Amino acid sequence: MSAEPPPALAAAPFRSRLPIPPVLRDDHIRIPIREAEQQILPGPKTRLWTFGGSFPGPTIRRRAGQRTRVTFHHELGEKAGELSVHLHGGHNRTQFDGYPGGLTKRQPLSAFCRIPRGLSARESGNEFLLEPGGNRTYVYDLMEDGRPERAAFQWYHDHRLDRTALHSWKGLAGMWIVDDAFEEALALPEGDRDLPLMICDRTFDRRNQLTDPFQGQRPPADGILGEAVLVNGAYLPHHRVDACRYRLRILNVSSFRSYNLRLSNGAPMLQIATDSGLMPKPVRRREILLGPAERVEVIVDFAAARGETVELRSSKRHGGRNPLGAHTYGGTLMQFRVGAGRVTDRTHVPRRLRPLPHWTRKATRKPDKRWEITIGGFFKTTWRINGRTFNPAHVEAFPKLNTTETWEIVNKTNVAHVMHLHHTDWYLLERNGRKPPSYEDCLKETFFVYPNEKILLAGHFSDYTGKFVVHCHMLDHEDHGLMSQFQVVRA
Ligand code: C2O
Ligand code: CU
Repeated sequence: MSAEPPPALAAAPFRSRLPIPPVLRDDHIRIPIREAEQQILPGPKTRLWTFGGSFPGPTIRRRAGQRTRVTFHHELGEKAGELSVHLHGGHNRTQFDGYPGGLTKRQPLSAFCRIPRGLSARESGNEFLLEPGGNRTYVYDLMEDGRPERAAFQWYHDHRLDRTALHSWKGLAGMWIVDDAFEEALALPEGDRDLPLMICDRTFDRRNQLTDPFQGQRPPADGILGEAVLVNGAYLPHHRVDACRYRLRILNVSSFRSYNLRLSNGAPMLQIATDSGLMPKPVRRREILLGPAERVEVIVDFAAARGETVELRSSKRHGGRNPLGAHTYGGTLMQFRVGAGRVTDRTHVPRRLRPLPHWTRKATRKPDKRWEITIGGFFKTTWRINGRTFNPAHVEAFPKLNTTETWEIVNKTNVAHVMHLHHTDWYLLERNGRKPPSYEDCLKETFFVYPNEKILLAGHFSDYTGKFVVHCHMLDHEDHGLMSQFQVVRA
């Protein structure tokens, strides 16, 4: 599949405006999950499955510590089967965590996972699923370890067994921002100058409808790439900005594709946050590798480009290791049109941002648990963790509540993976036995793991007991077995 967009798409770049999804701030939010048509390309509209009628879905914006209820109504009909909504980056009870579930009448077989038949709704987690025609209220406390959680840029998406890649491709994703007093006390850009950007790739047919690339996809070649890259659901959009600092929150919701982000004028981006909110200190970067589900937040100063245009681009990477799975897109993503007026800018990025939580200091380098990624099988190859595909009835680790553990993730395949762990934020202690680079020396929850690489992570298990998944966020890999789970238990 070529990485370049089809010529018809490239004909009129930057014509459409960057869409800004509606922002919802209430304590009880209702979101219908339904089909909708959206103007993505010139010509016919594209039919999508959406949260609330748009892609991206509404951005939910709440303060840490404010309990939030979201009632999702499943209006996609029987054809969609059961759904399960996950707040990616959240710290939530298992029943509100988008648990994938097991086999059901509507989904009697799994294509890649060996799941026993006849599990009870409890054992399979089917009790947590959202049925066609039904609704389910998810309760998010936005608390962690007894305190309001750290402000962060999160997102929500479907997480159903075997179908996550398909559902995401069709449009089931939205952004979620947690604010808090710590961030508000800093003089970071806000309001219109705090801009969330959701990047994804999709392929369209001649009638502008999404293609179905899912047939015949098998490990290890199951990385779905879309030909056109969208930002907030628009193809090569533009956005007008003032000649001052902006906070760009960038999220990659592509199934498989990675981006190596840079600005066309070569200006540095000051990274202030990762998946898990503010870093201990900002890091100046010219290029930023962003894998599926990862987020970065950067401060970009458009003052030097007054009256000009600046493009956000992704470039192919040169030098260093570049295995399959970490190949980046080459092309432009969007354009900023910088106003000609001078602007007084009172924003400021301090030298120190947010300290790491206490438990990171207590973490040991001796792993309590090893998670090994392999590929195998005779008739059908599958991705595996510790020799198994996902089975909701099998639990791989039992960390105790209110403890900190160190886990090792090892990739024994020839493809890079992007490993995501639910339940908490994780502190990367080592990558291949070495201290991580400054932009990874912080909390995150989604990590690249290159072939034959070993990463060492510490996590703190607080507040909730229950089952939580660990998986590759290359969504085909997740659906094709690369998922496991742990269960937090009482000490
Ligand atoms: Cu965004 Cu378990 O996933
Ligand atoms: Cu993977």
